[in-house]
Amino acid sequence: MKVLAVASEIHPLIKTGGLADVVGALPAALKGHDVAVTTVIPGYPAVMAASTAWETVAKLPGFFGGRTAIKRATIGELDLLAVDAPHLFDRPGNPYVDADGRDWLDNPQRYCALSSAAAEICHGLVKTYRPDIVHVHDWQAAMTLAYLNYTDAVRPKSVITVHNLAFQGQYPRSILGSLGLPQRAFALDGVEYYGMIGFLKAGLHFADRITTVSPRYAAEIKTAEAGMGLEGLLAGRADVLSGIVNGIDERVWNPQTDPSLAVNYDAKSLARRGGNRKALEERFGLDHDDSPLFCLVSRLTWQKGIDILAEALPHLVASGARLALLGSGDRELEGIFRQASLQHRGRVGTVFGFDEALSHLMFGGSDMTLVPSRFEPCGLTQLYGLRYGCIPVVARVGGLSDTIVDANDAALTLKAATGVQFQPITPDMLRDAISRAIALYHDKPVWQAMQRRGMGLDQSWDLRAAGYAKLYRELVA
Ligand code: ADP
Ligand code: GLC
Repeated sequence: MKVLAVASEIHPLIKTGGLADVVGALPAALKGHDVAVTTVIPGYPAVMAASTAWETVAKLPGFFGGRTAIKRATIGELDLLAVDAPHLFDRPGNPYVDADGRDWLDNPQRYCALSSAAAEICHGLVKTYRPDIVHVHDWQAAMTLAYLNYTDAVRPKSVITVHNLAFQGQYPRSILGSLGLPQRAFALDGVEYYGMIGFLKAGLHFADRITTVSPRYAAEIKTAEAGMGLEGLLAGRADVLSGIVNGIDERVWNPQTDPSLAVNYDAKSLARRGGNRKALEERFGLDHDDSPLFCLVSRLTWQKGIDILAEALPHLVASGARLALLGSGDRELEGIFRQASLQHRGRVGTVFGFDEALSHLMFGGSDMTLVPSRFEPCGLTQLYGLRYGCIPVVARVGGLSDTIVDANDAALTLKAATGVQFQPITPDMLRDAISRAIALYHDKPVWQAMQRRGMGLDQSWDLRAAGYAKLYRELVA
């Protein structure tokens, strides 16, 4: 079976978050299920530079205001089609924002170009290639399904995966013409959304199947609390909506072989983690001692509850623990933690920026990883934490709720606990969770059993890919 995936990020070429990890790992895992994935991505500089073997397989003259070529290459296990449109994508840095952190003004045109090219590929633009299924990810690729809808040609079955409902791609009606869609598309049963054009809304409306990245989040988004305005549409489509938890790429995330660690280790040699911890202490300017070391690797945004952590930070420090934080995003949140690292020298350390290698060392060297998110479709850092023996301390929401077993009395008795969860998501409850985690940390046999349990869990994409393969088969049956 042939699946055309459409996405705006793909690991290891271009990444701002978990979306890239998922889009990058799923194709290799699906091979084992007889599914051949080809992924359409924008031709950002990092993408075009990743291969010298790009071969032009189609040309789209005058496409969204400039010359565009569809180029094909295989990179590692990824079969890629890049939309090489320099007027849209040849811009350095983060794919979505300029150097000052502002959204590129032509983002709707840029991601409609990606989507429109994908729709053309579904219709045979690339000779000899016709997918059975088109699988689009998030708002940036969602309009593919609108382009497919407003043409007469036969179209493949479709799946949309929602990685994050907070990003919906909403733009004024006045740009409809520039997107190359007919005026009739601006309708309730089209791209219209509260008087605007809604990219994600359109995808959710037209898709044959909707998935999100955990069963819990699939349930939450049908409610007004978490649906972000789309709960009505999602509840109405509940019969085609399901949740499949993300896996992790166990070749990339393996403490035994990870080249980014100072010292490699496994569940039998947990003491070796000390070497990574020392490297972290040096990198973050933290005191060298035996106190518990919390880490956080995250986009710094409201979603991630970083402000909640800021409020609980004095308690963490007063409890004798330390924090290493790696993140980028909101300048104000950066400022709060920069200040905290000055105030609590040696106890709180920060690195601002996006540093893939350092993120690996964080999980390999700290004792706990914090994920105090207000909402979390799946979350990957808690999964990396599990794999690296870095106990997750997480909000009980979305995928965090589905992937961590709280160390309550029942779970401890059953020897099933893998982390600490808290709810409601408030500074008080986070303080409580931090205290519970610290108490467990000092109970070495229990702590190490939890570490080993997490490290032994099967979180492979091979396992999770089965869910997608089943969905595809049902669709083409
Ligand atoms: P989201 O996609 O909402 O940001 P996830 O937990 O699904 O959250 O995925 C985040 C991914 O990005 C993880 O792979 C995480 O390690 C990585 N990440 C986040 N911030 C940074 C950073 N500052 N440096 C390196 N990696 C980061
Ligand atoms: C999103 C979500 C995150 C999820 C990731 C990959 O960015 O915020 O929870 O893990 O996508 O699916």
